[in-house]
Amino acid sequence: MLIRVRSHVDSEARASRQSDCAETATARAYAGRMGRDAAAVSVEPLDATFGAIVHDVVLAGASDAVIAQLTELWIDRALLVFPGQHLTRPQQDEFARRFGALEFTATALTNVGPGGELRLVEHDLSKSLSANERWHHDSTFMPVMAAGAVFTAEIVPDEGGDTGFADMRAAYEALDDATRERVGTLSAYHSRRYSMDRAGLHVSAENADRYQLYGYAADLDPQLRPLVKVHPVTGRPNLLIGQHAHAIPGLAADESEALLDRLDAEACAVPRTYHHRWTVGDALLWDNRRLMHRATPHDPAQPRRMWHTRIAGDPLTESAITGVRATRSEA
Ligand SMILES: [Fe+2]
Repeated sequence: MLIRVRSHVDSEARASRQSDCAETATARAYAGRMGRDAAAVSVEPLDATFGAIVHDVVLAGASDAVIAQLTELWIDRALLVFPGQHLTRPQQDEFARRFGALEFTATALTNVGPGGELRLVEHDLSKSLSANERWHHDSTFMPVMAAGAVFTAEIVPDEGGDTGFADMRAAYEALDDATRERVGTLSAYHSRRYSMDRAGLHVSAENADRYQLYGYAADLDPQLRPLVKVHPVTGRPNLLIGQHAHAIPGLAADESEALLDRLDAEACAVPRTYHHRWTVGDALLWDNRRLMHRATPHDPAQPRRMWHTRIAGDPLTESAITGVRATRSEA
């Protein structure tokens, strides 16, 4: 067997994993398909409905055979954690490109200014980081939402600054029949301007332009997307919700908000969540089509610098509903 699956000490987690046998079956499939030339990587499932820690692999310059293994594992587990990689920015982008075209290359998410000074929390760029603290899928407010991302840690604070992930496929499957049927008929508009303003993080148009705040431009229309997304690779449905979603057509504003808030709260709960405590050099790869994620706060007096490379979605399957443009009153 070329992929070794590490056993968990948690018997409850083992029992739940054995119920779907995904890891074991996947590992056998990899071993069968990859042949004798494939390198061995070691997979340790997270104690959640998704996710795995991957050991015994070097991402920089990985072979096609290793990338093929990781691609299947990415689709299967949705979040892969690679400790100790210490990727340079070009290496990070090169690795991300193995999974698709890039929406954007390695970009710093940091409270450290260009001169080394720490930005105040009131700074508009700090607001942009704070806005990531509510659950969301990336780029649902753009015409084509992201397929995934590679995220790495260069400077981490002593405490806090963890990144949370939540499994929207498991959340969809956990819905009661009536709710599952209802959400299957609904869509919502997605807008970063909506989510930041709702969180009290409004940025002036002038500063949004000046700092090139992604997705906040006033001339970007909210994007209409179904509340249930069918994953383009697995064909399995998952919820597509989060902080950017609002204004469900056909519902009153308060009814829409209440439904979306309830879905978020119920979806993002154990065993469908995992929060990653970062160590410098970690690299994460996640499937944005299936997972939501969020930042968590840390002491603003401590520096943190992360690098985010975003993998573009396929316009055929990740585009917003076409031919519909939101009006300002709907936004
Ligand atoms: Fe994000």
